[in-house]
Amino acid sequence: MRKINSSKDKVEDEITFSDEVIKNRIGKYGAVYFPSNIQESIEDILGNETKKEILHDFFKALKKYNEFTKQLKGSKLNPSLTVLLYGPPGTGKTSLTRGFSKEYDIPLCVVETDRLVSPLLGDTIKQIRNVVELAAEIAKERGSFILFFDEIDAIGSERSNIHEVGEIKRAVISFLQVIDRINYEGVPLAIFGATNHQNQLDSAIWRRFTFHFSFEFPDYHLRKKIIESFLDKVKNAKIGVDESIYTNLNDEYGRIQGISNNLEHKLGYIVSEFEGNILWDELHKKSEMKGLLELSKGYSGSDIERGTKVSLLKAINTERLTYELFYNSLKLVGGTAIHVERQDVLSDRRNKEINSKRMGNRSSNFSGPPEI
Ligand SMILES: Nc1ncnc2c1ncn2[C@@H]1O[C@H](COP(=O)(O)OP(=O)(O)O)[C@@H](O)[C@H]1O
Ligand SMILES: [Mg+2]
Repeated sequence: MRKINSSKDKVEDEITFSDEVIKNRIGKYGAVYFPSNIQESIEDILGNETKKEILHDFFKALKKYNEFTKQLKGSKLNPSLTVLLYGPPGTGKTSLTRGFSKEYDIPLCVVETDRLVSPLLGDTIKQIRNVVELAAEIAKERGSFILFFDEIDAIGSERSNIHEVGEIKRAVISFLQVIDRINYEGVPLAIFGATNHQNQLDSAIWRRFTFHFSFEFPDYHLRKKIIESFLDKVKNAKIGVDESIYTNLNDEYGRIQGISNNLEHKLGYIVSEFEGNILWDELHKKSEMKGLLELSKGYSGSDIERGTKVSLLKAINTERLTYELFYNSLKLVGGTAIHVERQDVLSDRRNKEINSKRMGNRSSNFSGPPEI
């Protein structure tokens, strides 16, 4: 029987942040994910094992945050629940966070940070403060919450809409202040930041995050696993996958490993496939054929996923995925690394131009990125 005035009912009556309310209110700032609607799991993002281990500890602590803070009270060691994920696009930063959100049953809001940044400085500061404070209220009531600032470098970088150095600095300060306050109050709110432009991230923001996790383009060992996992997904869609894809992949993998071992023996160190072309040149001495692993050097997991999806468009008609079709589809989508390298060169050039303009305009006032 239901006791009308029991304290439990009272608590239930006072719930302000139902899923619906969260979606309406914090949804203004970005995409809201509730664990039951999230499709990916932590295991879908292959590799990254050390990060996953640390993140498991992090989220376990977040779930037991109240006990945790009680125990730490007086120690002046308030845990700062901040994580920065950096590295090229398509390497799993957002998906892995969604996987953890699902696994630990904690809702998540992914904020497109550049949407918070407005040419009117007052607005930027207000928006940043509003979203963090709202997330903190939700976290307090729901027990935990994750606020994920995607492209966090938009706060305090040359890419932002703010053009005055002094104003950029004030936006950064305001961001840091609000994070500090939340940490100080001991709110069970995890704040994540993600960036593809770590060299453009304000150093004060960088330092404020407790954990820094680097995401990289996958090496050939991991690419093999990622390719195989997407082939499994094709099979799950009841489309036949030619055995030759697996045999070619295994043959190529064996060849690369053999050469890598020989080189290591000869040179006395492990040759990275991303270090010049030593490994691939050796490979070509032994065989002419370029395989899937060589083709996909500099591809992100997301590029391999896109390539697989392209191949599906054709394979769905023939109900068969052939080696040639898969190879050509991966080739068609291309890898991200080449664009990232080009962008770095361009942004270096742009930064130099901006700096030299600044030096001209305001003599020696400008000396590097804003520091706190
Ligand atoms: N290491 C990986 N293993 C498997 N799939 C990956 C991996 N990295 C990326 N992907 C695929 O790429 C997709 C997009 O990744 P995403 O999380 O959006 O990257 P980022 O946030 O770093 O730009 C993922 O959903 C996943 O399908
Ligand atoms: Mg992302």
